[in-house]
Amino acid sequence: MIRTLPRTFGIVFVLALAAGCGDVKKRDAPAVASSAFEPGKALYDEHCAMCHGPKGMGTGLLARRTETPLLEERTDLTPDFVVQAARMGILNMPAIPRGEVSDPELAAIGDYLSRSRGAP
Ligand code: HEC
Repeated sequence: MIRTLPRTFGIVFVLALAAGCGDVKKRDAPAVASSAFEPGKALYDEHCAMCHGPKGMGTGLLARRTETPLLEERTDLTPDFVVQAARMGILNMPAIPRGEVSDPELAAIGDYLSRSRGAP
């Protein structure tokens, strides 16, 4: 009984390693096909990227509480969540008024940011 214990631990260890490798593979998300012109992308670059670009403070703060700080790389965003966060503000992000980004413009940004999960 006691002699088989180390072997059991060995197997558990190998399984844990294999599981870890699986995780790494999952992060290699397939490249998202980019269409020629995306209005949401242009609007995002104009209104959001100054804070949500690679060196933006939105990215910096999101790095503290999410695994994927760049909004453009997220696969879990829904259009509704993006619109809600932008209109109401969220934690340290100020609310974005309609005078700055109109409803149709924000909807396009929401579509753009949620495209990678196949949302409409
Ligand atoms: C003035 C800088 C700034 C601008 C401009 C800005 N954001 Fe943000 N945003 C932030 C910050 C900072 C956070 C993180 C808030 C926190 O965690 O404290 C954030 C968080 C978010 C989140 C929440 C992500 C999550 O997982 O909780 C969404 C969605 C978002 N922003 C969308 C947008 C969109 C869309 C725009 C453009 C219309 C935009 N932001 C423009 C600063 C900004």
